[in-house]
Amino acid sequence: MFGTVGEAISWARGMLTGVSDSAGLDAQLVLKHALGIDRAALIAHPERALTLEQVAHYRRLIERCAGGEPVPYVIGRWPFFDLELIVTPAVLIPRPETEHVIEAALAWVKKQDVPTKLHIADVGTGSGAIAVTLAKHLTQARVWAVDLSAAALGVAHQNAVRYDVETRIVLIEGDLLSLLVAQGQQVNLIAANLPYINQEDLKAIAHHEPRLALDGGPDGLDLIRRLLDQAPQVLAPNGLLLMEIGAGQGQRVCALAQKAFPGAQVRLITDYAGHDRVVHVEK
Ligand SMILES: C[S@@+](CC[C@H](N)C(=O)[O-])C[C@H]1O[C@@H](n2cnc3c(N)ncnc32)[C@H](O)[C@@H]1O
Repeated sequence: MFGTVGEAISWARGMLTGVSDSAGLDAQLVLKHALGIDRAALIAHPERALTLEQVAHYRRLIERCAGGEPVPYVIGRWPFFDLELIVTPAVLIPRPETEHVIEAALAWVKKQDVPTKLHIADVGTGSGAIAVTLAKHLTQARVWAVDLSAAALGVAHQNAVRYDVETRIVLIEGDLLSLLVAQGQQVNLIAANLPYINQEDLKAIAHHEPRLALDGGPDGLDLIRRLLDQAPQVLAPNGLLLMEIGAGQGQRVCALAQKAFPGAQVRLITDYAGHDRVVHVEK
């Protein structure tokens, strides 16, 4: 069937064509994972011979991908910003769109007279993508990372340990900002990538990711509305709220945010495709 790196990649590309829009890249990413080498080494040495065990292992992984399992779940890792996060089917696969939240947060912190301690809440932390990336880049930050899913928090903990920031991240199993409200805890920055897919769209798409990570209710904004009810109590004066949103939700979420924070500067950040992506609220 195949015996070298180059042959393995062509075989896998064939298996994945029609299943994935990026069959060639997926074939490389899975082989890189199976062999424990980097992509440059794969590309530089297509003639490299595989052992029988490596062939069998790669074949099993590619067959799972061909069966429709997402590549990140098959290999258990996925890149986000400048990290490589552990992912399992308990968490959303981190998306490049969410990197706009990180960029906006880092840009805002850079222009602040930052308090010696920066308090951050990551609401709906999932894999810990936002919490861990911000904790790694902002060494003065302490992060409250909240999720309803205990299994997701387990993955966020593994990522916090992987990047040596676990002592600065408090994992909370709970509903949105409820615990922080109850404790009277305020933060300088709230970042939230909550579920925002409306139920009609959710029915139409095949999803391997947890429904809890995707389902935003009838119009997609259930969680965002509830967050905006709580956020004014938790966001400290001069603080920043960042909410990732779906394409086409910008006007509605900006209006809701302005109502929740009447004196705030509210603006919309679009992604590289020009879609509404992040609502930026400076209190
Ligand atoms: C879209 S995923 C985002 C995950 C991660 N922040 C990221 O950007 O990759 C949304 C997350 O919110 C969590 N979630 C859903 N409802 C919640 C709620 N009421 N309170 C806290 N977390 C919630 C889900 O379990 C899921 O992990």
